[in-house]
Amino acid sequence: MARSAEMETASFVQWFRAAAPYIHAFRGKTFVLAFGGEAMLRADFVDLIYDINLLNALGVRLVLVHGVRPQVEERLAAEAQYVQGRRVTDADALEHVKDAVGSVRVDIESLLSVGLPNTPMAGADIRVASGNYVTAQPAGIVDGIDLQFTGEVRKIAVAPIRDRLQAGEIVLLSPLGYSPTGEVFNLTLEEVATQAAIALAADKLVFILDHGDTVDAKGRRINRVTAAQVPKLLRELPDGDMKLYLPHAAHACKKGVGKVHLISADVDGAVVMELFTHAGVGTMVTRQSVESLRPATIDDVGGILSVIEPLEADGILVRRSRELLEQEIEQFFVDELDGRIVGCVALYPFPETGAGEMACLAVSREFQRGGRGDGLLAAVEDAAIERGLTQLFVLTTRTTHWFIERGFTLGAPEDLPAPRKALYNWQRRSKVLMKKIGGDE
Ligand SMILES: CC(C)(COP(=O)(O)OP(=O)(O)OC[C@H]1O[C@@H](n2cnc3c(N)ncnc32)[C@H](O)[C@@H]1OP(=O)(O)O)[C@@H](O)C(=O)NCCC(=O)NCCS
Repeated sequence: MARSAEMETASFVQWFRAAAPYIHAFRGKTFVLAFGGEAMLRADFVDLIYDINLLNALGVRLVLVHGVRPQVEERLAAEAQYVQGRRVTDADALEHVKDAVGSVRVDIESLLSVGLPNTPMAGADIRVASGNYVTAQPAGIVDGIDLQFTGEVRKIAVAPIRDRLQAGEIVLLSPLGYSPTGEVFNLTLEEVATQAAIALAADKLVFILDHGDTVDAKGRRINRVTAAQVPKLLRELPDGDMKLYLPHAAHACKKGVGKVHLISADVDGAVVMELFTHAGVGTMVTRQSVESLRPATIDDVGGILSVIEPLEADGILVRRSRELLEQEIEQFFVDELDGRIVGCVALYPFPETGAGEMACLAVSREFQRGGRGDGLLAAVEDAAIERGLTQLFVLTTRTTHWFIERGFTLGAPEDLPAPRKALYNWQRRSKVLMKKIGGDE
């Protein structure tokens, strides 16, 4: 019992410390968080409110966008008519939309007002601002059908929203827009959220998925995707919120929103996990991949150690001290993902023999099987060719097949350049693998 409490404390402390860079990074940033009306019907909706409270407490400038689909459908007497996925809003339906929006808005405001001492909201004192921040225009006639009071976003009142955020308030937007002609239009939450995020140049846009998970057609988690990859992905995805929100996510990224996160409402603690852990639990959409493969600098030593130490502990890699790494940092390349080193490799040239040793190839466990090993190998090959080398060799005890599958062949310690042969550790009995590079292989 005591041991498990100890472990719990250790993991809590570790987790809390690991969150520090995110806390620094998020302060003063603008996040737009969108969730459907379904989210509000869930028993765990209050957890989302707690997460909103947490982000607010950390100094994030928050714009919330809520939906009302089930609340409107519940009020409608007849089944709604949809054209290309958009509901036709006639005058009667608009009354129900207004009614539902009013009710949902009050519910959200009341949940955000809780300050009971025995809840995470203790001492929160959150102010919520809502109003006519969205100007709309009619969507018009689609496929010959007049969508009537279904509208499109025309303008977002950026300066007034920024004022409210600056004052520390949370801004709450509803799927409604007002026109200069005095009419009210029903909008989709995804359009309001996307347009608000673009207009505010938000750092993050977050969609909570009510239906379906952030997985591909085979059920595999889609961890990250670039805006350019979205069209191909859409062709393969089954229907669900992922398919609905992804085009908006890609559009937002192309228009300058920093990152878009899609998170399933079914994952416990999903918002915190996605935003405060590196691996995340949902899908992150970015304009470009925020990954780079580059020569290492002295500032990367800590990052490289975090990649190789677990592998050294398992005896997969030969131990390298921090001092040695500092001395040899110029031989290293690193794979940096969102500011974190996730892979590394070193090239030690033996120019007199035309050979180069590839060493310390490693990818952090949680990032393996993503083609990063291949990328690091390619970087070393390019660098070796650039230096006029014609052969690469590597010593390994457990990864022989990985190299053989990539064009290496088994050699012997005798094949090593003389200075390297002198250092060969006969006890470790590493396999020597060679590969010709450049020219005709
Ligand atoms: C070897 C390593 C760098 C590959 O990185 P990666 O980013 O996972 O590589 P890729 O995504 O390009 O390749 C993954 C493939 O390699 C295979 N693979 C991983 N380790 C392997 C091993 N020890 N032997 C054979 N194949 C291996 C995986 O099964 C996967 O195959 P699949 O795509 O058919 O499922 C990584 O597994 C690692 O860091 N291993 C520990 C350190 C190490 O052994 N370094 C080499 C000694 S110098």
